[in-house]
Amino acid sequence: MSKIVLLATEKPFAQVAVNEIEEIFNTAGYELIKLENYTDPKELIQAVRNVDAMIIRSDKANADVINASEKLKIIVRAGAGYDNIDLDASTAKGICAMNTPGQNSNAVAELAFGMMLFLARKKFVQGSGTELRGKTLGIHAYGNVGRFVAMIARGFGMKIVAFDPYVPREKMEAEGIEVAETVEDLYMNSDYVSLHIPANSETRESINYSLLSRMKNGGCLINTARKEVINESDLVKIMTERTDLMYATDVAPTNHTEMNEKFAQRYHATAKKMGAQTAEANINAGAAAARQIVNFFVNNDTTFQVNK
Ligand code: 3PG
Repeated sequence: MSKIVLLATEKPFAQVAVNEIEEIFNTAGYELIKLENYTDPKELIQAVRNVDAMIIRSDKANADVINASEKLKIIVRAGAGYDNIDLDASTAKGICAMNTPGQNSNAVAELAFGMMLFLARKKFVQGSGTELRGKTLGIHAYGNVGRFVAMIARGFGMKIVAFDPYVPREKMEAEGIEVAETVEDLYMNSDYVSLHIPANSETRESINYSLLSRMKNGGCLINTARKEVINESDLVKIMTERTDLMYATDVAPTNHTEMNEKFAQRYHATAKKMGAQTAEANINAGAAAARQIVNFFVNNDTTFQVNK
């Protein structure tokens, strides 16, 4: 039966990805409605009313959006983190929430390296920098992105250490990763720490003064995960005390202006979340989301459901 699908992207996909999504829905005989570049959340509340399915990126599918829908059956977050979906509200309305794990991971990992190089080379403007070869990279969470980061780090000749209590030690070791016993060890022994933890009740503000103060002299923290995992006032405190520390992120902190003013030489944030902003990642995640929607309606496939 024909369905109406909303593609709601406040930060739009590359056109090639939208074309691919369109083709998948055309083939299925579904109608695609696009809400791109919108600035007012009310536009999303309005647009979701009469659709059967919705694809989003970091767009907020909060209770207001979910409860405004009259026949929505599935939301697919084209990407990894689903902290932007109110899962309880979805479950209460019988809506299946999914993500598309792994589809944009390489893009995020490549940006993490771009940021490491940017800091190592003094933001490309401040004279003589340092090299990544021979340095220790601490990967905080060894999921899809963490694995791509490790793969790239090998090419750079870095020593790779990772901490992830949710991944079996044997699996990490089999992939040539040195496993840090504790998260504190990871921060103590790494020249670069690349964050890949999700934002949830356990991780929120978990990157705090106690952890950051353990970083090595000249340590760089790269955050292509979520701003919520950082305790921002602790970050300001430690960067004020430790003039050797650097921080780069693709998720500007709430206190971006203060960070920029205080640490212009040692801090960088992109204007919008950029990790997954490549044509390839958009095609992979967008097309996966579209296929998952068709599969859900045609075959009752709930493989990537996150509110089970
Ligand atoms: C993700 O969780 O997949 C990344 O943070 C990418 O988010 P984006 O689709 O908003 O760029």
